[in-house]
Amino acid sequence: MTVAGAPVMRHRTAIVRHSLSQPMSLLVQHGVLAPGVAVFDYGCGQGDDLRALAAAGIEASGWDPHFAPDIARQEADVVNLGFVLNVIEDARERREALRDAWQLARGVLAVSTMIAGQVSTEGLRPYRDGFLTSRGTFQKYFGHAELGELVADVTGTQPVAAAPGIFFACRRADDLEEFLLRRRMGRRSSTAAYRAPRERRAASARPLLADRIAPALNELAELAQMRGRMPVAEEVPLAVMALLSQHHVALPRALDLMASLHLDPATMEQAATAMREDLLVHFALARLNQRQGADRLGGAIVRDIRTHFGSQKELLAESGAYLMGLADVAAVDAAIAQAAAGGIGALDPRGRLFVDARRREDLPGVLRVYLGCAAYLAGEPGDNSLVRIDSQRKIVAYIPLDDPKSAAPFATSIIKIDLKRQAAVSQPTRRRLIAKSRISGRATRGQLHAEAALRKEIGVGGDVLIVRL
Ligand SMILES: C[S@@+](CC[C@H](N)C(=O)[O-])C[C@H]1O[C@@H](n2cnc3c(N)ncnc32)[C@H](O)[C@@H]1O
Repeated sequence: MTVAGAPVMRHRTAIVRHSLSQPMSLLVQHGVLAPGVAVFDYGCGQGDDLRALAAAGIEASGWDPHFAPDIARQEADVVNLGFVLNVIEDARERREALRDAWQLARGVLAVSTMIAGQVSTEGLRPYRDGFLTSRGTFQKYFGHAELGELVADVTGTQPVAAAPGIFFACRRADDLEEFLLRRRMGRRSSTAAYRAPRERRAASARPLLADRIAPALNELAELAQMRGRMPVAEEVPLAVMALLSQHHVALPRALDLMASLHLDPATMEQAATAMREDLLVHFALARLNQRQGADRLGGAIVRDIRTHFGSQKELLAESGAYLMGLADVAAVDAAIAQAAAGGIGALDPRGRLFVDARRREDLPGVLRVYLGCAAYLAGEPGDNSLVRIDSQRKIVAYIPLDDPKSAAPFATSIIKIDLKRQAAVSQPTRRRLIAKSRISGRATRGQLHAEAALRKEIGVGGDVLIVRL
């Protein structure tokens, strides 16, 4: 670990964190990390992630060669190797750290690194395949695809991109499928909107019992709405089953009660439609990516398919039609025009669609598959990002914005995902969004005034959405 006699101070890269790191929060958001799941943080730095997880009731421990060298490296359901590989200057040692972390992971390994384009390397001294900083640390800025290939090579699995520079490797194929499908379901922006009001109906309610088992009923309602069908016993969390048994309520009775209080036919119909779409998109993408294991499905997904399609054969036939739509530029362009006409995003003068990342699940199905492909290559865009779809060049771009409250936020990096070449690159940029109101579909008087003033100052017409500075 010495460079021309001076040691590389790897530990100096560990920052104090006041909130969960991005890979840890993605694991939580996607339901991979939850109470009852054991976590090990490999290269935990100062241990702030561990403290935050412990406070949330998640069993977590970690090891770090500098900060926690005496803690035993132990197996866990989920292992995090967070921003460690990029501080190691020796490529062989990187592979060793990755291999050791993978050996500890019973279920999922999360690997994250800094990626090229996220920060400027101006003034840094090139060293091996990275840079030395003035603080005596080393940083390698990985390419997003380069990191994916390294994880695939060392783990022997096809990892899933959770976000730019963040990959999850799953030991079991059915875990991966369930994870991907849940991620798709979790992103449904409309889920909250179609949740039924929760006041009781006098005729069918049994207020006392319903009150006593209210947390169980809420959870059952969430499960039913998520999958668009009633859950079976093995899909219901143990804590819910325990509460029901404590009150001598069998699951079918609890489901009836839940349905009478929380669900109506229209709500369930909407949930079923959403789940059908999720399954179609999921399986279209699995075919596109030739993902092995998509045929080795866990019980919950098999039940979903049976309920919503009758058979896997029917689902595959329909998902094939989805894929055809993707190759058909005219169909994609029609979907883009439909989205823009419906106020989900706006077109720039070159016919590219700009959408607020939070609204991407409101797009027509063909575009959701399009963005699904991008997500497989580069992970999901952050919420405070723009997504740009260029159907002519088959390129999707993520443009993270700096300040969600600003009327005209700046972007300092852009992630371009080339669907034809199956490659994602992150580049530094300097752009400013000047038509937030058109893209978000929300135009307050103040916002419109600020945009008009900016257009005048920069000297551009009303059809320009974003400018390069
Ligand atoms: C940028 S910090 C990241 C810390 C923490 N994971 C986080 O996200 O906040 C990198 C850490 O990797 C540790 N490290 C260096 N070499 C390592 C190795 N071979 N195996 C595991 N950790 C290592 C360093 O001591 C440092 O604490």
